Amino acid sequence: MNSQPIGIFDSGVGGLTVAKGILEALPKESIVYIGDTARVPYGTRGIEIITQFATELVQFLLKHNVKILVAACNTISATCLDKLQENSPVPVIGVIKPAVLEASKTTRNKKVGVIGTRAIVNSKIYEKEIAKLDSEIEVLSQVCPLFVPIAEEGMGNNGIAKLAASQYLDVFNEINIDTLILGCTHYPLLREVIQEVVGIDVTLVDSAHPTARDLKAFLEENNLLNAVGDVTKQFFVTDAPERVREVADVFLGCHVVPALEKVTL
Ligand code: DGL
Repeated sequence: MNSQPIGIFDSGVGGLTVAKGILEALPKESIVYIGDTARVPYGTRGIEIITQFATELVQFLLKHNVKILVAACNTISATCLDKLQENSPVPVIGVIKPAVLEASKTTRNKKVGVIGTRAIVNSKIYEKEIAKLDSEIEVLSQVCPLFVPIAEEGMGNNGIAKLAASQYLDVFNEINIDTLILGCTHYPLLREVIQEVVGIDVTLVDSAHPTARDLKAFLEENNLLNAVGDVTKQFFVTDAPERVREVADVFLGCHVVPALEKVTL
């Protein structure tokens, strides 16, 4: 048993969708979240810079005495998870493997689509991880950079989102996918329009729920669950806390961000 908090980090507010999944699956756990809103987006940057920024987020969370770290950002998970794992004294879990496992179990026709940021798609991480599980699965990846600002502006369900979705996602109709991985923390906020464009027969897989499930299993297996009653939720950002407060509820769903603090890394 272990009452130390779970550390969750992301390039900005998107990781709150993963935090939401974790809070739902593990309501008795304390969490510390940090979003690097001063330097978001990471998805357009090179691997070295992403690694440097992610390392700083990890160091911040380690100072908060976390028992485990969750890289709640597909871009970080795709580019430097192994480096973070090598250098961390506590376990580090990413969001890609859990989603890949879920998609490989979901697909029936072995045709899986992936959507993500440029860094994610360029890394070919989903293709590599899916091939490890089942080399017969065909993967088609598509970059959807406009989805991130659309989600952050709270426009995930309007005409602009629909236009962007059909522009980006029509390509999937050509190969008849039956499963689509939402490979970016922001994309669950466009879930309805994405579903509309790809069709109801396509199963959408996001990272939040499979990651929360794997985290729970890991904590159980390693006897790391919190047995004490006290639960704390701390949220930190590196810039613009007022703006984050405005959008945080959308990303976190029913959970409100009680205290949000600006910090310098
Ligand atoms: N959180 C990031 C991700 O999942 C999206 C935004 C960014 O590009 O930093 O990749």
